[in-house]
Amino acid sequence: MNTPKNIAIIMDGNGRWAEQRNKSRSAGHKEGVKTLKKIVKAAVNLKVESLTVYAFSTENWKRPKAEVDFLLTLMKRTMRNEVDELLENGVRVQFLGRKTNLSNNLIKEINNIEKRSAENSNLTLNIAFNYGGRAEITDAAKKIAEDYKNGKIVLNKFEEKDFASYLYQEELQNIELLIRTGGDLRLSNFLLWQSAYAELYFTDKFWPDFAESDLKQALKEFKNRERRFGGLNDGDHHA
Ligand code: IPE
Ligand code: IPE
Ligand code: MG
Repeated sequence: MNTPKNIAIIMDGNGRWAEQRNKSRSAGHKEGVKTLKKIVKAAVNLKVESLTVYAFSTENWKRPKAEVDFLLTLMKRTMRNEVDELLENGVRVQFLGRKTNLSNNLIKEINNIEKRSAENSNLTLNIAFNYGGRAEITDAAKKIAEDYKNGKIVLNKFEEKDFASYLYQEELQNIELLIRTGGDLRLSNFLLWQSAYAELYFTDKFWPDFAESDLKQALKEFKNRERRFGGLNDGDHHA
């Protein structure tokens, strides 16, 4: 089996990485951006088609205001500072999440990078920011209700693929490999619909310590996984 087309990463452990070094949590988040830059380049080289990274969840608003403010500013700065390098590498950047509650300045940077990179095709980088899987499914349900009310939907013809077309990014239907760094074994509300059949890969490494070699290790393990999608293995057809 080849490299998975759609990879997702829960970039977790920035705070603990910093704590281990007696640094501030903010320093951990800054280091996390550096790791993301490296992993994006690696993904381009490895010919991954799409990489979706969890940068800020709908639940992360519960953190102290100073940390939330730092993360919002870091996102804005990163979008602004990295646009040229991302364009040079042929990366298409897309935002995944709710734009409500985000400042106009941040939305401006996001729209700018989305527009300028729209024609790129080396790698699509989806940045999940103010993203929640349940929020996404709820938003889809509301849009569906609206279209049903307006007579645009015929219920007995409405299938899974039609539902999926109401999600934030229609193209992102199936995550093949979902990586979580930082040692916790949960999804934390990430890509609930799209990960239905994802292979899960967990590593204890904190996100700032995650390197290209770790990504390669995850891809190697993915190749050895047997994906059955509810069916049977090849050669396993005795009744
Ligand atoms: C992930 O690192 C980044 C965000 C959630 C924004 P954390 O900040 O959750 O780091 P830990 O899990 O506390 O170490
Ligand atoms: C998930 O990490 C969200 C991101 C990586 C952006 P969290 O650190 O927020 O998840 P929990 O709180 O441990 O479940
Ligand atoms: Mg965490």
